[in-house]
Amino acid sequence: MRVVIGITGASGAIYAKRLIEFLHKKHTLFVTISKHAKSIFEYETGVNFFDFIKTKDVEYFDNGDLYSPVASGSFKIDACCIVPCSMKTLSSIANGFSDSLISRCADVAIKEKRKLVVVPRETPFSSIHLENMLKLSNLGVYITVASTAFYNKPQTLEDVVDFVVGRILDNLGIDNSLYKRWEGKNSTNVEL
Ligand SMILES: Cc1cc2nc3c(=O)[nH]c(=O)nc-3n(C[C@H](O)[C@H](O)[C@H](O)COP(=O)(O)O)c2cc1C
Repeated sequence: MRVVIGITGASGAIYAKRLIEFLHKKHTLFVTISKHAKSIFEYETGVNFFDFIKTKDVEYFDNGDLYSPVASGSFKIDACCIVPCSMKTLSSIANGFSDSLISRCADVAIKEKRKLVVVPRETPFSSIHLENMLKLSNLGVYITVASTAFYNKPQTLEDVVDFVVGRILDNLGIDNSLYKRWEGKNSTNVEL
């Protein structure tokens, strides 16, 4: 698959990091990151974003580079994922305000009726945030909130992260076994 990944300045850079780690060998990734997200990535993960992507098979574009191929609907892309998605970027996407490459890529995905997965991170949500999410959901956008489940009995931080990343991959239509799926209360898959 050819996937655009936009990273914005909400907490949860680790989700983007894990998603790229999972996808980069088998899929074609086009990655962009906002100014705030760059510093939050380093603050939260302890890893410099550029050092990280240097070791990954991805094509990187500056968030201000509206001349990049991914900014155009004519460039072939299968899906776009904004992870994590700040309330600011959520608002710009919901209102068609494409002043950055990230919001433009999301806008392109919506207008071309391509798969778009948005991973908001905030709590509590205000009515403004909820209205923006509803607007996008009504357009067919996946609103995959970075909210973990506990029915799969996570043991580590990696388990918690992999649950959310696994659900993002499910939305993208990419096979994964990153988390234990619910198979009923009496399943041997989950110890209750
Ligand atoms: C450490 C840190 C954590 C933040 N966490 C969130 C968050 O979880 N959700 C959110 O909407 N904004 C969060 N913000 C605020 C955004 O970074 C800010 O609104 C910024 O303008 C978003 O811009 P961007 O969408 O272009 O990255 C955080 C900021 C900092 C410095």
